[in-house]
Amino acid sequence: MTAKSRDDIARAYRSEPWWYDVRGFFILTFAYNSTLPAQLAFFGPNFGPRHLEVACGTGTLLELFLKWRRWKKLPAVEIVGVDYAESMLAGAIDRFRGQPGMTFLHADVAEMPLADASFDTANVANAVHCFPDVDAGLRGILRVLKPGGTMAANVLLYPRGAWPLRAIAGRINRWGMKKGILYTPYEQADIRRRIVEAGFEIVSERIAGNCYDVLARRPAAA
Ligand SMILES: C[S@@+](CC[C@H](N)C(=O)[O-])C[C@H]1O[C@@H](n2cnc3c(N)ncnc32)[C@H](O)[C@@H]1O
Repeated sequence: MTAKSRDDIARAYRSEPWWYDVRGFFILTFAYNSTLPAQLAFFGPNFGPRHLEVACGTGTLLELFLKWRRWKKLPAVEIVGVDYAESMLAGAIDRFRGQPGMTFLHADVAEMPLADASFDTANVANAVHCFPDVDAGLRGILRVLKPGGTMAANVLLYPRGAWPLRAIAGRINRWGMKKGILYTPYEQADIRRRIVEAGFEIVSERIAGNCYDVLARRPAAA
């Protein structure tokens, strides 16, 4: 299968934001074997005072994370959302229009026009496996995190578990790669090594469904 470029991926994400959200729900359930409550519990706590939402898409999940945080009475934070697909970003801009403390940028994660060491936290929800250059993307996130800042990410793994769920997930992945909305799933050891080689230290990790959930930190300055 031909590898997709960054622009192919942006084009693949040109669908209407509402359709993207419906499709996303099925992908989450049957390819990731994940649920919204699991994603809220994993990403919701990782918001520092200045937070970067990497590959924010239409902002559907980000909005749910923020609702979850308000329900848990967690502090409000300043947020910058970044995405490479303009139509996805347009959905997020519409969704959060007029809300204070929220900025959205059209940028590649590998080349974000953001200052070094300027964020306390970053979340990458359902997107590391969409980056065409994952190593450059991880280095880009590390660069903008403050020393000690944390990145939470869930990374799609090659399908696990029993038939028929494994076969269904494999089919959805092949369709996603052909369409360009998925770059590649990973082996856990491979993506872990790439995160460490980008300069992160692993804080916690687990496999949940077909995903590797990892909390990684930019090492504190020596
Ligand atoms: C599966 S969606 C996830 C969106 C959102 N985080 C969510 O969970 O609903 C993947 C997103 O990654 C974005 N993306 C892929 N490669 C990117 C890159 N190199 N830089 C920035 N965004 C990228 C796509 O445009 C898309 O919006």
